[in-house]
Amino acid sequence: MHDTLLLFGASGDLAQRYLFPSLLHLLRDRLLPDSFRIIAVGRSEYDDAGFGAWLRERLGDPEGRAADALGDLLARTHYLSLDLNDREAMQRALSHLAGRPSVSYLSTPPDLFIPACLGLKAAGLLEGESRLVLEKPIGRDLASARAINETLKSALDESRIFRIDHYLGKAPVQNLLALRMGNTLMEAVWERRWIESVDILVAETAGVDGREGYYAHYGALRDMVQNHMLQLLALIAMEPPATLDADSVRDEKTKVLRALRPMSSADVATDCVRGRYGGGVVEGQAVKGFSHDSDVETFVALRAYIDNWRWAGVPFRLVTGKRMPSRTTEVLVSFKPVSHWVFERPTRQCARPNRLRMRLQPEETIELGLMGSLAAPQWGETELQPMSLDLSMSPLRRRMAYERLMVDALRGDQTLFVRDDEVEAAWRWIDSISESWQRAATPLQDYPAGSWGPAAAAAFLPATLSGNGQRGTN
Ligand code: BG6
Repeated sequence: MHDTLLLFGASGDLAQRYLFPSLLHLLRDRLLPDSFRIIAVGRSEYDDAGFGAWLRERLGDPEGRAADALGDLLARTHYLSLDLNDREAMQRALSHLAGRPSVSYLSTPPDLFIPACLGLKAAGLLEGESRLVLEKPIGRDLASARAINETLKSALDESRIFRIDHYLGKAPVQNLLALRMGNTLMEAVWERRWIESVDILVAETAGVDGREGYYAHYGALRDMVQNHMLQLLALIAMEPPATLDADSVRDEKTKVLRALRPMSSADVATDCVRGRYGGGVVEGQAVKGFSHDSDVETFVALRAYIDNWRWAGVPFRLVTGKRMPSRTTEVLVSFKPVSHWVFERPTRQCARPNRLRMRLQPEETIELGLMGSLAAPQWGETELQPMSLDLSMSPLRRRMAYERLMVDALRGDQTLFVRDDEVEAAWRWIDSISESWQRAATPLQDYPAGSWGPAAAAAFLPATLSGNGQRGTN
């Protein structure tokens, strides 16, 4: 395991919310090497004591064991203020670290990836066994992602590049694979013959607050769909890999992303809804709307098709939004109706199709919706009722996704990281949507904070969502 972490963007939102808390937990649980040290690099001017005080305040000044771990974390952290666009300054400040294998983690906006990579290269920090970790999003479209990937490739080998998508570090997301590939029942039905549609919903109650600058250039399509949601889709739709090693899994995911049918201007009129939240009430709290000059969406609903043998004609509905009524991440697989219906009650039209519902956040549950008749009448016809097989885990204390990913990057395991061709295939599809939106001048529709998005999106929402009686058939 490498023992030197250079954390760029150390005073940013992600570092204070997830990266330092993850490091704190890993130190507390003694999962990092004794010689572990952090070079925290940010734009703000601090000395070590000043940065320590800032971080302590952000981490809520813990007590007991956590306080000891925080003391340990700060003792191992040295802060540097650096402009990542200044290659010579990077070389001057960092080249003394070049002798030892390190992990440089760029938790910065994507427009700094190229200069930071060139600065690290000049300082000698991308040689030998050293690794580079990059936060999502990799670029803003296919062209910028390619430019970043080209620069990375000129500086170090793909086997030492770790592109983060923190959804892959979530245990419930990995469980999708377990459920899909560990069960004969699933293997037998996981295809267009038996599956009618797939819904992927990532709803957040949080708004954009505090990240307007970044968000105004990205919006929900680039911030959530290009990465987290397409990774979920790829795990659900990919062919079973021969083994679970990094490249076997990534090969299969890439094939799915490449098979996504590009959206034309005509498609976006029927297969997309873009929305932006106005003021409203979320979880009992009055909240303001998202007001920014830019034309970005905070909600998007899409109907996607994967043009291959397994999935031809099966709609994958992807919905994500900020300021929704509840925080919910779930996957709903709806099966086709039974081929021949022999019951009078309910009628064929009223029989509920089988459904597999996997909730990933905030609770982890798996629910299988069946039809059955536990109390058959003694005379007359059998009446079927919807029944549900519910499996829920007793509340688990899960590790943060970043804890797992940090350890994997320090160890050099790439399985849960995204490869260059995967990122580019995802952007190619996303570009087809954003370009069609522009050509077709797809409007942004308002929705009140605390609702399930614009009215036009009702047909895209999973049928299991409470109050969603309006969904169409596809
Ligand atoms: C991030 C997005 O990648 O994921 C945020 O930039 C979003 O906008 C977040 O809020 C959601 O992650 P999680 O783990 O809370 O579902």
